[in-house]
Amino acid sequence: MSKGKILITTRSFRRMEGEHKQILIDAGYEMVDSPFQRPVEAHELADLLVDIDAAILGVDDVSAEAFSKANKLKVVSRYGVGVDKVDLAAATDKGIVVTNTPGGNANAVAELALGFMLSLSRNIPRQDRQVRGEDWSLLKGVELAGKTLGILGMGRIGQRVAELANVFGMTILFYDPYAPSDDFLNRVPCQSSEVERILTDSDFVSLHLPLLPQTANMIDADALSKMKNTAFLINTARGGVVDEVALNDALISRTIAGAAFDAFAEEPSIGNPLIQHDNFISTPHAGSSTEQTTLRMGLMASQNALAVLNGERPEFVVNPEVYDKA
Ligand code: DGY
Repeated sequence: MSKGKILITTRSFRRMEGEHKQILIDAGYEMVDSPFQRPVEAHELADLLVDIDAAILGVDDVSAEAFSKANKLKVVSRYGVGVDKVDLAAATDKGIVVTNTPGGNANAVAELALGFMLSLSRNIPRQDRQVRGEDWSLLKGVELAGKTLGILGMGRIGQRVAELANVFGMTILFYDPYAPSDDFLNRVPCQSSEVERILTDSDFVSLHLPLLPQTANMIDADALSKMKNTAFLINTARGGVVDEVALNDALISRTIAGAAFDAFAEEPSIGNPLIQHDNFISTPHAGSSTEQTTLRMGLMASQNALAVLNGERPEFVVNPEVYDKA
């Protein structure tokens, strides 16, 4: 007989076999897969959480309604870092521990950000479409070497982007209220800067900030107007950090040269006007979707969930105040 049920909504976790799943099976739990091939809405999650002991979740809507029928739930284990879609107060109120997997996807997201920079600067998606259409004409690109990269948010992902960009010979400016370690600053040439200067001086601006009240729509029409008209905006963080209407206008008026998004304000992002622009490219929130990260982050998420189920305190707790209630 199973010890209990663990709901898995995240698609990449479900699709791969590996230790991340095996440790749940070995511990005697039954995995229950979400029937949806997309992030789930709060009311859908509410139904899925009935009789569930632990949930390993992607970027689903975990607002208070999601917990309304959660009669056994002890832990929400985020497969990922961002917890902007989890109502932490509601979880704490119900005594549900929320965990995440910091660092687990840093390299995968950073490589995608670099991929976006190369794709935009060398027009790779556009030229690919041309060749498929038997059009052999050339578009002129720019090289990353010698260009300035502005990184907003210098946590684990931002730091990895800086390391990679450094290898490409870029000058790196960054903004973060928390300074990276001295070890990092000694190793990777980069300069702390005000947001304003990052916007005005960078050829590429890459976002690696969490979505918080202070960062919501941080890149608005005013911020976009400060950027060079040759600059590119890369968003592998959260859609809500950028005002998408303002970006749409900026792409039409060529206020900036182009943009690339892995994260949108609404996901799935269907019928979004941004997607029609030649100078805009996107992926479906796929930053963590690599073989290595699925295994690494999946294992972290499973270990976090099992720790709570075993009555232990996991390493990465997002709502530590839940333990004050006990
Ligand atoms: C994160 O880490 O939050 C990513 O968006 C993947 O879920």
